[in-house]
Amino acid sequence: MDPARRFSRYTESPREAALQLQLRLYQPGDFETLYQMDQVCYERGIAYSRRTLREFLQMSGATTWVAVEAEDVAGFLIAFCEASQGHIVTLDVSPTERRRGVGSALVARAEREMAGAGVRVVELETAVDNAPAILFWQKHGYRAAGIYRRYYRNRTDAFWMVKTL
Ligand SMILES: CC(C)(COP(=O)(O)OP(=O)(O)OC[C@H]1O[C@@H](n2cnc3c(N)ncnc32)[C@H](O)[C@@H]1OP(=O)(O)O)[C@@H](O)C(=O)NCCC(=O)NCCS
Repeated sequence: MDPARRFSRYTESPREAALQLQLRLYQPGDFETLYQMDQVCYERGIAYSRRTLREFLQMSGATTWVAVEAEDVAGFLIAFCEASQGHIVTLDVSPTERRRGVGSALVARAEREMAGAGVRVVELETAVDNAPAILFWQKHGYRAAGIYRRYYRNRTDAFWMVKTL
């Protein structure tokens, strides 16, 4: 990727421009911040261990975008691509930064870059009892295509959600 794009200011809608949000790629120094954010964003049994988070961050074909406002990390998204298939691994927005367009900005960036890499279909999993996330994904055009029973360590089921770009 062109290094200049790593810190490009995100200005795709007036609300998001008002955020003064910057989206950049993950840097190793972000690790502990992202880990702590994931612990806050998800309940025990769904939140990642340090080891699992590190594995996703380092996975072949994976990209992590970090949303930064006034030098504070507001959220992050991990996705990976395999040919024409994209997969959103996780999307985390700090509880204090929600409903301000941060998650939408991260998804828009990830989808745009995946589409540019030839991805046609994006999939993800989200817990069947995570109503805010389901509403969020539906707003972004994702539809439940199936259920994975006892998908998470705490045995909660997950919706398999899919979007054609
Ligand atoms: C789901 C999550 C990523 C949304 O991030 P966000 O930055 O608050 O989302 P946005 O501000 O871009 O919201 C976009 C739209 O999604 C919908 N939405 C988001 N949060 C919602 C909520 N709590 N209740 C209902 N709708 C919601 C709304 O339609 C919203 O538009 P609006 O604010 O104009 O009504 C965030 O709540 C989060 O990190 N939750 C914990 C982790 C998680 O569940 N991640 C997703 C599962 S993989």
